[in-house]
Amino acid sequence: MLEVSSPAKAILFGEHAVVYGKPALAISLDRRMTVKAFPAGLPKVDGGPLSMRKHRYVRWAYNNLWDGPTLAFKTRSSIPSASGLGSSAALSCSIAAILNYLKGEFTEEGTARSGFQIEYNVQGKASPTDTSCSTHGKGILVTYEPREELLWSIEKGETTWHVHHIAPPDLELVVGYTRKPSITPIQVEKVKSFYDRSGFAKETIEEIGDLVNDGLKALKEGDVVKLGGLMDRNHSLLTILGVTSKEIDRLRDAAGPYSYGTKLTGAGGGGSILALTDRPHKVSEAIKKRGGVPYIVRPSKEGTTLNILDSETVDVILQQVQGQKG
Ligand code: PMV
Repeated sequence: MLEVSSPAKAILFGEHAVVYGKPALAISLDRRMTVKAFPAGLPKVDGGPLSMRKHRYVRWAYNNLWDGPTLAFKTRSSIPSASGLGSSAALSCSIAAILNYLKGEFTEEGTARSGFQIEYNVQGKASPTDTSCSTHGKGILVTYEPREELLWSIEKGETTWHVHHIAPPDLELVVGYTRKPSITPIQVEKVKSFYDRSGFAKETIEEIGDLVNDGLKALKEGDVVKLGGLMDRNHSLLTILGVTSKEIDRLRDAAGPYSYGTKLTGAGGGGSILALTDRPHKVSEAIKKRGGVPYIVRPSKEGTTLNILDSETVDVILQQVQGQKG
């Protein structure tokens, strides 16, 4: 009766440094997670009962954010999971939008907040970068102090993140998935132990912070040569922090000759690289030859979108939920 779809994301600049108070720049990608919701006798996902292991995100959302009539969900995704491309964020935002809509509370900011709440509670620790980027589409800048074009601010404990709108140009990009999962907490811990004992690590984080601001300027100017150079530089700094791997380096070596710039995206260790290029098919072939999985992508213009397939059923549920509230 209701179909919601949310895009993947890639961090363009600033991963890891964002944990230490620096800004991060993320863009959405035109691969999507689509979720359909319909009334059912039992809560189900893709035909099976809501499972603790398989459906952690949907299950948490359903148990904690929903009090209305029983719903079942059908998911369809073109975002590889554990690849650093935000598949869990896209799922969280899609479920958040469905439940908020059926409660009569649908807004973009509300989706970003509920999507973050779902990811945070399931993962134990998360920043709102992925969920805000997936909700908003286009691009976002996350900072610890508000700037121009503020979309929303999200607080958790001592931390407040400010999320800003960015309009990326129509970049040609190739994601190269290493086939090795990226485990964010392990990489974050690795950087933390280096940071705690090394002035050099602190300087490296500072330098990444400065580079994000240069990257933002180059993005706004649509200067792909400058952007590519900054991506390479950001990658070198991430290498100093110890979060690259032989799988990542192999794909960068493959994509490099046909790209303006390449870098790992997300936490690293595995996951994916991002290549900025005007020869996406050449880059794809090279990535495939070196054992990676290529995806030709562009920034997504649309964030979370909602499509009502059966307005009568939606109205019945809306009335039931309102009745329960009243
Ligand atoms: O791999 P991802 O998409 O979960 O990105 C992690 C980004 C980090 O900066 C390494 C961690 C964080 O919470 O921001």
